[in-house]
Amino acid sequence: MMFQSRRRLLAPGLAALALIGLGASRCGAPPPEPPAPARSAPQETALLQEIKDKDQGQLAISEEDGRFLRVLVATRGTRRALEIGGASGYSGIWIGQGLRQTGGRLISIEYDPVRAQEAAANIARAGLSDIVQVIHGDAFAEVPKLDGTFDMIFLDAWKQDYKRFFDMTFPRLDPGGVFLAHNVVNKRSDMGDFLDAIAAAPGAWSSIIAPSGEGMSLTYKQR
Ligand SMILES: C[S@@+](CC[C@H](N)C(=O)[O-])C[C@H]1O[C@@H](n2cnc3c(N)ncnc32)[C@H](O)[C@@H]1O
Repeated sequence: MMFQSRRRLLAPGLAALALIGLGASRCGAPPPEPPAPARSAPQETALLQEIKDKDQGQLAISEEDGRFLRVLVATRGTRRALEIGGASGYSGIWIGQGLRQTGGRLISIEYDPVRAQEAAANIARAGLSDIVQVIHGDAFAEVPKLDGTFDMIFLDAWKQDYKRFFDMTFPRLDPGGVFLAHNVVNKRSDMGDFLDAIAAAPGAWSSIIAPSGEGMSLTYKQR
């Protein structure tokens, strides 16, 4: 990718000379391409930064947590993800990028009407409208209307509601699925009942990670 873009800057003859000079003369074959840097398309990177810049209430997850979610989604082959608390779509875009790799889909529920609208617009700008569906409403009312089960659930709503959301949605998680909750380190005092619940949940393994200071719990539902 990087090499192709360099080649486009050169006249064809010069490009051929550059090829010879770079490697063909050394071992008869051009050198291997350097690996492309793992990053979003430039427009998506700019869009993510724009959402962060406008995020006065600092609602969005950290960039590092977004990177983690993207890798998790892609490496687990996630197909059917649910997000509770989508705000303006920042985390939804990171998850959506991972789902672009797996062919999966995300339903993101957001209570605030303005944020839900912003999320849908941002998802569209990221070219993810066919992957991420934004639903405006209270997730306590909206989740029961959804069909089927999920193989990943990401919870990032009001912290005092975490245990109720866990009780409501964990039965909807597939065996082998993962339930994640955000801010379990920096806001742990607001969600003691939830942290106790995931530690004691039968047939589940939990772990806390902190790609940034906010922390995320991962609860794996055993098969
Ligand atoms: C911390 S923000 C989410 C940030 C988002 N995950 C991101 O990283 O871009 C929490 C959001 O949860 C929403 N929320 C709170 N309770 C909710 C509920 N019961 N149903 C749906 N959304 C809810 C709030 O309106 C708020 O926008």
